Amino acid sequence: MTRKRVLSGMQSSGKLHLGNYLGALENWVKMQDEYDCFYFVADWHALSSNYADTAELKGNVVDMGINWLAAGIDPEKSTLFIQSLIPQHAVLYVLLGMITPLPWLERVPSYKEKLENVENRDMHTYGFLGYPVLQAADIILYKANMVPVGIDQLPHLELTREIVRHFHNIYGKQVFVEPDAKMGEVKKLPGLDGRKMSKSYGNAIFLSDTPQERDRKISIIVTDPARVRKTDKGDPEVCHAYSFHKVFTPVDRISQIGADCRAAAIGCVACKKELAKNVGAYMEKFDASRATLVGQPKRVMEILHEGTKKASKVAAQTLAEAEDAMGISIPAL
Ligand code: TRP
Ligand code: SF4
Repeated sequence: MTRKRVLSGMQSSGKLHLGNYLGALENWVKMQDEYDCFYFVADWHALSSNYADTAELKGNVVDMGINWLAAGIDPEKSTLFIQSLIPQHAVLYVLLGMITPLPWLERVPSYKEKLENVENRDMHTYGFLGYPVLQAADIILYKANMVPVGIDQLPHLELTREIVRHFHNIYGKQVFVEPDAKMGEVKKLPGLDGRKMSKSYGNAIFLSDTPQERDRKISIIVTDPARVRKTDKGDPEVCHAYSFHKVFTPVDRISQIGADCRAAAIGCVACKKELAKNVGAYMEKFDASRATLVGQPKRVMEILHEGTKKASKVAAQTLAEAEDAMGISIPAL
């Protein structure tokens, strides 16, 4: 029996943080044993909302590879590749662009939201509007059955499915597979200040932070604001350090900490020290593995190139089928 194909990508627009690790990477690792997984670095997508500042783009690609491998993504099981090395993504993007109605793109929530909220960068580009079309090309080139994504990506998946149906209706050949979104069990982790963890909010713990830096950040997580003195009784449910405990601390200990907080039997400093220890233990294997891989960028790039070769074959095959369905495959001389 052939295994179902999973495909997902990460935009290489910056350093990965603990939220990415828990929200996506851990799921990717789990899926490797059950599915035929394709994971790729979406470096073109990184340009779509930040075309001017490209100084770190190349470094981000290697760093992403390092984080994937350190997290346990296994190149023996999964195909890891780099989007910009596979031109078929761009070709299919052009072709899908021909059939995608403009209003479908203009109503995508992430488009509207960023257009309104991003102030320091120019978002009024064709590439940014077309972002979900490129994403659709990424997915359907590999005939992926499932795409693990977070909730913010669901509209992109829905659009991908619409584009597939549209293509099949127009050209009368079933070339592509309509992918399903796969939402993993998501461990919710806020940023240090309680907002969503994000590089741009300055509230993130990065996977590249040293254990010391991580401990320091944990020590400044915003706690119950009403608990001013150690003798004040606290409410763990409004404390962001407690949200971290819920992810990293053994279950029986979590409820004990909650009770101690309510009874003012534990101070916030001690509570966060214990948290830092637990986060350290949780990330210990990752940290060690990352430390090794950071010294082996060449090996990491070799793995990404190896996977790219494999992925290219699949992409070329699907693109040929699409061009044939569209009646645009020019016979060779
Ligand atoms: N848009 C995704 C993100 O920002 C990245 C991405 C690009 C992607 N192409 C994809 C995810 C294809 C899944 C499948 O996280
Ligand atoms: Fe938060 Fe712990 Fe302080 Fe309670 S004791 S407010 S859970 S840091």
